[in-house]
Amino acid sequence: MEIQLKQVGDYHVHLRDGEMLKLVAPTVKESGIAVAYVMPNLVPPLTAVDQVLAYKERISAVDPDTEYLMTLYLSPEITPEVIAEAAKAGIAGVKCYPAGVTTNSDHGVSSYEPFYPTFAAMEEHDMVLNLHGEVPFSHDDVTVMNAEEKFLPLLLQLHERFPKLRIVLEHCTTAAAIQTVKKCGPTVAGSITAHHLYLTVNSWGGNSLHFCKPVAKTPADRAALIEAATSGNPQFFFGSDSAPHPVVNKTKLTGAAAGVFTQPFVLQYLAEIFEDQGKLNNLSAFVSENGASFYKVGTHPSKDKMVTLKKSPVTIPEMLGSSPNGVVPFRAGETLRWSVLL
Ligand code: LMR
Ligand code: ZN
Ligand code: ZN
Repeated sequence: MEIQLKQVGDYHVHLRDGEMLKLVAPTVKESGIAVAYVMPNLVPPLTAVDQVLAYKERISAVDPDTEYLMTLYLSPEITPEVIAEAAKAGIAGVKCYPAGVTTNSDHGVSSYEPFYPTFAAMEEHDMVLNLHGEVPFSHDDVTVMNAEEKFLPLLLQLHERFPKLRIVLEHCTTAAAIQTVKKCGPTVAGSITAHHLYLTVNSWGGNSLHFCKPVAKTPADRAALIEAATSGNPQFFFGSDSAPHPVVNKTKLTGAAAGVFTQPFVLQYLAEIFEDQGKLNNLSAFVSENGASFYKVGTHPSKDKMVTLKKSPVTIPEMLGSSPNGVVPFRAGETLRWSVLL
């Protein structure tokens, strides 16, 4: 049995820089991904147009075959003028990290109002706002389990104020997030990772390889994510949030890095879920059509890139690279039911 997929997109990818970039960038193409939406949370973060364009060159030097859509990191430097310049340079979006909630978010935002002129400029220039949807952990009643749900009123507020601004709630992890995205209508979308279709809170307590932000939530939340991802609803599309961290940082006794690495097996993880739900016919909406139409990438050169999923087992290696700086892929050592033919 084979499934053909056209212009597969991964709308949330971390490629890092330096040696890690060299290690992980090729895995995007190996995954069968034609379009990668690249996150800007380098150290220091990418807050200027020329920095983003230079980063794109460094990525393309490692692997020129993928279509890279680039993003800026929301910070006070991102003025309406910078947005105009970014739009002209073909930068697709701006990623907003609340201060201190995840990897390299120390420069993140703590209040949204000062950015309203920037959001207005983004709306005018048709750029996308990507939200890491968690409130900061500065109040006692905020926990890793409720930080996303507590963020949702803010999403509604931003959407009400900027109804034409295309907003993506990144890596949805709760039933409440899915409902809120649906309530907003077509200018708001939710990206969903592969690992959040598998993991729950029980999976990462005691296993730091499964620790990511936002953390995986309850079985009912996971069921809502599976339902949304496999439904074909154009408001939901794939963003792997494949987030490589050296194994030495993932397995520290304290302060383990947040992030699950899912390249280059993302399509296989998804195919198993869709198959188990009897929804393989909606896989192409989730990984190809919905994201491409939200991001308007239809006319990019990658539009004719095809990939085939074949029902033939593949075993996931224990590590990409080697310890201490290698990366452990999700479900390392397990055998999956599908292979990717490029
Ligand atoms: C996130 O999206 O918050 C994480 O993937 C951050 C990261 O870079 O590991
Ligand atoms: Zn994030
Ligand atoms: Zn991320």
